[in-house]
Amino acid sequence: MGFSTRAIRAASRAPRVDQRPTSVPIYQTATFASEDAQELGDVAADPRAGYAYSRLSNPTTTALGAAYAELAGGEAGAALASGMGAINAALASQLHAGDRVVAPLAAYGTTRTQLVRSFGGFGVQVDFVDMTDPEVVAEALAAAPTRVLYAETIANPTTAVSDHVALAGLAHAHGATYIVDNTFASPYVCRPLELGADLVVESATKFLAGHSDVIAGVAAGRRDLVDEIARVQVDTGATLGPFDAFLVLRGILTLAVRVERHAATAAALASWLERQDGVQRVRYPGLPSHPQHEVAARQFRPGVAGGMLAVEVAGGRAAGRAVIDALALTELTASLGSVHTMVVHPPSTSQRQMSEPELIDAGITPGLLRVSVGLEDLEDLQADLATGLAAARRIAAAVAV
Ligand SMILES: Cc1ncc(COP(=O)(O)O)c(C=O)c1O
Repeated sequence: MGFSTRAIRAASRAPRVDQRPTSVPIYQTATFASEDAQELGDVAADPRAGYAYSRLSNPTTTALGAAYAELAGGEAGAALASGMGAINAALASQLHAGDRVVAPLAAYGTTRTQLVRSFGGFGVQVDFVDMTDPEVVAEALAAAPTRVLYAETIANPTTAVSDHVALAGLAHAHGATYIVDNTFASPYVCRPLELGADLVVESATKFLAGHSDVIAGVAAGRRDLVDEIARVQVDTGATLGPFDAFLVLRGILTLAVRVERHAATAAALASWLERQDGVQRVRYPGLPSHPQHEVAARQFRPGVAGGMLAVEVAGGRAAGRAVIDALALTELTASLGSVHTMVVHPPSTSQRQMSEPELIDAGITPGLLRVSVGLEDLEDLQADLATGLAAARRIAAAVAV
């Protein structure tokens, strides 16, 4: 054989391994070779029969889907290209033209745009309601047939907490599928499937992976529902690469210890922020002052209310921006769930698609800041936030003059 042929064959020979590797190997391959035409036909038709092509399935990505299913309390799980990819696949697996979705007023901005623009464009009707009020949700569900009731465990960015038991009961009473985005909580804090949800989705980019170095999404639930999600993933190509799946698996190894520390620091910061001048409101599900504190206490791991909090500063939009600009230690970025603390001003970032009246309806006031509490030392974060709050007070004082 010529040199090129030998090189291609020599460098493609996967070694045989009889001992089980401690971490999940990264199957960095687009294709898998079959023994014969019959086997290739089988695995191409049904990813559960084996591997053919990594857009359909890949062992590293399958391992992540299975790991998430186990942690989320689901029968099956899937890993997808991003949180939005997972949300899209979950919704598209349920919805057809003419169907209706009831979704929360306060939710991640891109979820809202996906619902309105993409699904709305295909003839799906979307109605937004206050998901924290079961009576309002019941009225909305009674008003017209509904295919999907959609909620976030802890809403982005207001930290409003959904009562999954109540919402799942309402959804099922009206023949709707209850889908939950559990990104802000992670399965360490809350497992919506065990509280009645049909499907749970998460941006694995956040707490699951935890280190701001990968974009990924996951979904879990009943096997027949997850099979439909996998079908959409294959059709749309929202496939997660094996290296990215490996990074999320590595993050999951330390999820519990990270979230414990995120939550302990967040709880301490939330109490401290409540006592600071110029702070109008602090929203942290672990604080007794949180409107759904009791719901959180019922549904969350005892004593662990997550790493996300919202704080409203006096002085409106300009004061909110002043805090962001004065901070030195925290990352000026729009993500969350990372070892790095991240402070964002939703009216100018994640919720910028919303008009001023829509923002107010969703409880997103002009001075609202969202804090994703990282793993830095509490005292350093307090010192940095104190500098930010001093800048906000200067703006508020100037506005008052
Ligand atoms: C609550 C929530 N859901 C979904 C997403 C989307 O995740 P991804 O960026 O991985 O697509 C985000 C991103 O910030 C989010 O905050």
